[in-house]
Amino acid sequence: MPSATALAHPNIALIKYWGKRDEDDNLPAVGSLSVTLDALRTRTTVSFEPGLGRDELTLNGVVAAAEHPRLTRCLDALRALAQCNDHARVDSENDFPTGAGLASSASGYAALTVAGAAALGIDVRDSRLEAVARIGSGSAPRSLHGGFVLLENTATGTRCEPLLAPADWPLHVVVAVTSESGKSTSSRDGMADSRRTSPYYEPWVASHAADLAQGRQLVRARDFAGLAQLAEHNCLKMHAVMLTTRPPLVYWLPVTLACIEVIGALRRDGVPVFYTIDAGPQVKAVCLPEAADTVAAALRQVPGVLRLLTGGLGTGARIVDGNG
Ligand code: DP6
Repeated sequence: MPSATALAHPNIALIKYWGKRDEDDNLPAVGSLSVTLDALRTRTTVSFEPGLGRDELTLNGVVAAAEHPRLTRCLDALRALAQCNDHARVDSENDFPTGAGLASSASGYAALTVAGAAALGIDVRDSRLEAVARIGSGSAPRSLHGGFVLLENTATGTRCEPLLAPADWPLHVVVAVTSESGKSTSSRDGMADSRRTSPYYEPWVASHAADLAQGRQLVRARDFAGLAQLAEHNCLKMHAVMLTTRPPLVYWLPVTLACIEVIGALRRDGVPVFYTIDAGPQVKAVCLPEAADTVAAALRQVPGVLRLLTGGLGTGARIVDGNG
């Protein structure tokens, strides 16, 4: 029975993706620039089984009751590449909260894509796998790669460009976990609502290419101070779109803002750190390695921070043996 197991890490966008230019193909309206983390991981086994009546998913040890259309579409794309008709059993585990703004869909679909491809004998470096992972989640192709990854729109799809390997600029990320519960509105639904209703959606899309180009330059130049200003600006611009969506998308908690203030104060004191926040209340502090302990100590003291996840930058999705 063809089967393979893959590990993938979530990634965190420093220049964000919010909005789609094509919902059916899950094509993003804007590019993005991310760092792949090493601290968190998804481990997924995919087995194609002749005679299985439908694709079956076990997520974090719980068998999913209903069919999962995005999962099936990804598997369909892999089956088309390999000319295989068998359904698959998918067993996936995250070692961090699922669906709470920690990019579990990115690592989840990257691991699924790589494990499924390997099980079917497809080269896991095949660039067509980026499109397969993107069907699952627009941020997932970035987790196929390690370090700093740029995802840009092309005429017909998207393309990833790894910018720097983890060792080229070994930043650290301290994630302040402020809630363990899932988010109230999925990114997918939220993006569709923003596109329809936010007066800031069009300016967000129109001003994005400049942020992406500048982000690429700053990463290549390893300009921390420049990247700090740009990433925070881009993050707040995305949240301005979210907040002005109808109904409003308020992903923050009071503790989220408290973390922003603490990180701002640290930077004013000369500590090289900046924040970014996605579709959830967790705060991701990105810093130079020598500042990681100071940043962690400060965030740990913020009332409402439940725990910290800290680590460096990680590698792209990869095959491991069944016990890995
Ligand atoms: C705020 O990749 O989860 O984290 O493509 O609908 O699955 P879908 O959305 P998803 O959105 C990520 C949004 C974000 C910003 C980012 O990671 O770029």
